[in-house]
Amino acid sequence: MAALSGMLSGIRVVKAFAQEGRENERFHAASDHLRQWRQWVEHTNTTYSAAMQIVFGLGGLIVWYVGGRDVIGREMTLGQLIAFLAYLAMFYAPLGALSNFTTWMTSFLSGSQRVLELLDTPVTITEPREPVAWRNPVGAICFSNVTFGYDRNQPVLRDVSFDVAPGEMISIVGRSGSGKTTLVNLLGRFYDIQEGSITVDGIDIRHLAIGNLREKLGIVFQDSFLFRGTIWKNLSYGRPATTIEDGLAAALATGAHDFICRQPLAYETLLGEQGAGLSGGEKQRLSIARTLLYNPLILVLDEATSNIDAEAEKSIQEALAVLIRGRTTIAIAHRLSTLRNTDRILAFDRGRLVEQGTHAQLLASDGIYARLDRIQTQVSKQPTVDTLLVAGANPDTLPAATAARHLVAAASTDEPVPVTAKTAKGVPRSDTASIAWLEPSQHSFRVGLHEQIELWSGDDRIAAGIFIVPAFPATYPEAYLSVRSWGDSGDEIELGMIRSLETWTAENRHVVRGAVNRRSLVRSIQRVHNVALAHGHLDFDVETESGRQRFTTRWTQSQVLDFGHDGKMLIDMEDNRYVVRSIDGLLQAERERFLHSVYW
Ligand SMILES: Nc1ncnc2c1ncn2[C@@H]1O[C@H](COP(=O)(O)OP(=O)(O)OP(=O)(O)O)[C@@H](O)[C@H]1O
Ligand SMILES: [Mg+2]
Repeated sequence: MAALSGMLSGIRVVKAFAQEGRENERFHAASDHLRQWRQWVEHTNTTYSAAMQIVFGLGGLIVWYVGGRDVIGREMTLGQLIAFLAYLAMFYAPLGALSNFTTWMTSFLSGSQRVLELLDTPVTITEPREPVAWRNPVGAICFSNVTFGYDRNQPVLRDVSFDVAPGEMISIVGRSGSGKTTLVNLLGRFYDIQEGSITVDGIDIRHLAIGNLREKLGIVFQDSFLFRGTIWKNLSYGRPATTIEDGLAAALATGAHDFICRQPLAYETLLGEQGAGLSGGEKQRLSIARTLLYNPLILVLDEATSNIDAEAEKSIQEALAVLIRGRTTIAIAHRLSTLRNTDRILAFDRGRLVEQGTHAQLLASDGIYARLDRIQTQVSKQPTVDTLLVAGANPDTLPAATAARHLVAAASTDEPVPVTAKTAKGVPRSDTASIAWLEPSQHSFRVGLHEQIELWSGDDRIAAGIFIVPAFPATYPEAYLSVRSWGDSGDEIELGMIRSLETWTAENRHVVRGAVNRRSLVRSIQRVHNVALAHGHLDFDVETESGRQRFTTRWTQSQVLDFGHDGKMLIDMEDNRYVVRSIDGLLQAERERFLHSVYW
């Protein structure tokens, strides 16, 4: 118990210090404290289980000795002795499990304490007793005389009134701390207001079932929240039953598709806690894609583009412009330059709505918005990495995917066809983002000079030196393949996608498989000689197309994934991929050997 409370307090201290980022020394002291307790727990645990083993072993020896003597002295039959030993083993097994009891109990208690803490948090937002049905929702929002403070005596918003018409987009600006995010919290009913009312389509949100209200809202929070799980699971979180094509389209529209295709397992890459493994901007683009896929009636973007460089921001703005059509949208933005084309801008200051109008009107009235704008213009005159990059770029430059789409489209008309992907820029802009699917009737893949793989449209070569990335390498190894090349600036661009390789000719399939393998070497496992589980790792000894190989993977579901219909993909410690294409195709003994350790 002392160990438990020591560990808990250690964890708490470490957490508190890490969050506040205080002096190093105190942090080190706290982590030392935690380490010492952990060592102590491990030490006790190991000693205890070793002692148990010895006692069990000695017990066995004594039974053999006494039993053996009795059998020789004919006081007992050999059968009785063997039966006794078998029962003894049954008795020892649960006793052995008891030796792990302390460790189990410790983690159980500390885990349940955290869960209970959460469960004990009082709920201040209550469901209405008789919720009003929200019939024919169109998404009109009305804040009237709203006053609210997290602390009742200190209002954060004071007497705020404004309307948003169905399908209208408004922008909210204001200094840090002026209450912008608070508005979003109130609209989602994460807090209840103290005075005034908030209505949607004329219904006070306090009269709607909370679930009913929130399912119509899509909020991209300032800090994007991602879960531990694959990128796809995070993307489709709001719509688990979504089709792959819709998911891909949402990711493409928000500029997330390209960075996802660069991840080791594309859409099936596992993200850590809070989306660990992605950059801030990438996380944000992923959470925007998730919200768009959710297809909410009311869209709230809280600084959705603040973590993104100027170039990416531009492409997201374009994507959003298409996707906010027909949706009531509240966009909170710090970069005023992105608001120039908004119909109505609401400026907040110290919790009050102080101005509203278009960019030009607000500049003319020379109030807080004009001041913020002046400050930002001055700041943006200083060259930053972002501005330099954008200044250096060709103004006609397109997001790579759009360029590539036009490239493919151009190939099907009589226009001159670019020969390599390098000329993929500077083609007219399209206003909708959608996947460019390559058609077996129109496109083909060939191996050209220097073994380079080429994409052809009819008799025209569209690009050479292409490579192909499966978007879902484990689940759909031969479908949703992203055909990629290098753009002018050295960035990867997508030329189009293959929906399913099945519909292509054998010749094309062969070339495409080669192209996939070039990008990430995948070895096929034909025979399984041995699988050994030790210390949370699996050691494999297998026969592949390139001979006998040994490799090690971590024994977790993130490193041994389902592959296709009934196969498995294994990722070893160096990120090499090994595939058992069909478990049923293995010899029976080898299948059993394999499934003995990989049983999920
Ligand atoms: N959960 C909370 N509990 C108590 N006070 C809060 C909470 N969230 C925000 N506040 C306070 O309310 C005020 C308004 O915060 P809010 O997050 O709405 O500002 P904001 O306009 O979104 O700022 P920023 O531009 O920095 O995001 C701030 O003074 C803040 O300290
Ligand atoms: Mg905020």
